[in-house]
Amino acid sequence: MNTMQQEYDLSRHNSFAFPAICPAFYQPHSLSELEDILEHLTSPFYILGAGSNTLFTEATTTAILQPDFQGITVKDAGDSILISAQCGENWHTLVSFCVENNYYGIENLALIPGSVGAAPVQNIGAYGTELADVIDHVLWYEFASKTIKKLNRSACKFAYRDSIFKNQLAGKGLIVEVTIRLAKLWQANLTYRGLDELPSDATAKEVFNKVIAIRQAKLPDPEILPNAGSFFKNPVVDKQTFETLKVKYPNMPAYMQDNGKVKLAAGWLIEQSGLKGYSTGEVGVAETQALVLVNYASKNGQDIIHLAQYVQSQVLAKFDIFLQPEVRLLSSKGLIELTQPNQA
Ligand code: EPU
Repeated sequence: MNTMQQEYDLSRHNSFAFPAICPAFYQPHSLSELEDILEHLTSPFYILGAGSNTLFTEATTTAILQPDFQGITVKDAGDSILISAQCGENWHTLVSFCVENNYYGIENLALIPGSVGAAPVQNIGAYGTELADVIDHVLWYEFASKTIKKLNRSACKFAYRDSIFKNQLAGKGLIVEVTIRLAKLWQANLTYRGLDELPSDATAKEVFNKVIAIRQAKLPDPEILPNAGSFFKNPVVDKQTFETLKVKYPNMPAYMQDNGKVKLAAGWLIEQSGLKGYSTGEVGVAETQALVLVNYASKNGQDIIHLAQYVQSQVLAKFDIFLQPEVRLLSSKGLIELTQPNQA
């Protein structure tokens, strides 16, 4: 396939299915193709995975670089297995590959849409497991030095839906390969609500199937109803804020964090604000999971932005909590943020 296309329609490259046009679309399949592209690629440009966590907010975007390196390799490391996947591999394909080959530890992360290369950027997580739990290292190509750097788990600075790739290293390079380390001695992680219905000796395949069933029941399939999964992050608040809210809302779900803070459930806050299933024009809040914004038929990413701002304002008015988007927002000039009104 040609590595570069001009005035390229990204409809098939974003799970919201918005028809944005990028001036130039680059899809390198190897390091040498990437290096050729970087010779003439000018800023601004955006590194896109499968487009399952990016909203195109305008009819045009910046130039797009979508690395599509393929391949999975496996190495026996004694009491663990090292599995390396190239950035263009599909994440769920990797999870399925592991379960089929009896490499256990990422079955809780089944069915998360997106590419392997994008997974460390937001430290994907679901059903009690995070990518950070199993990462051994990431190979990251640095544009300035034209070299590949090896970042071990601590160098990746993983946090809840966050990593060094979103912060200090943003725009300075791209992830080419991800290596996970799975212990041979495996124990099912059944802590998350729903998975605790399984027997304590459940197999990884059973966990995998259960996670798929829960996701399919709650999260709308982007192929049928375009969306980008959770639109907002779950807010993390200090203990005092939590205690105050808890008095008023005793049934509010909350998860204590190691640092003494408390993570709240954005989906619950949105539902309590009366917005579950709310729709306006051709977009809306999903009926099964209030944290997911869906595109029924709109051709304009601004419709989702306006809906997101409405959700933010309603939750702010009721709970005094400002929800931060989890989805990345790409305009024609680069990434943008939705900031709290009247705040610098
Ligand atoms: N809740 C409601 N109403 C809703 C949605 C949720 O009351 O409409 C309540 C639930 O009853 C539960 C709590 O909120 O008490 C948490 O809900 P859930 O278990 O569905 O998970 P979540 O916090 O809404 C997070 C991740 C998901 C991940 C699930 C499962 C974020 C932003 N989202 O959602 O990740 O699949 O946990 O682990 O952390 C994604 O990132 O795109 C994503 C789907």
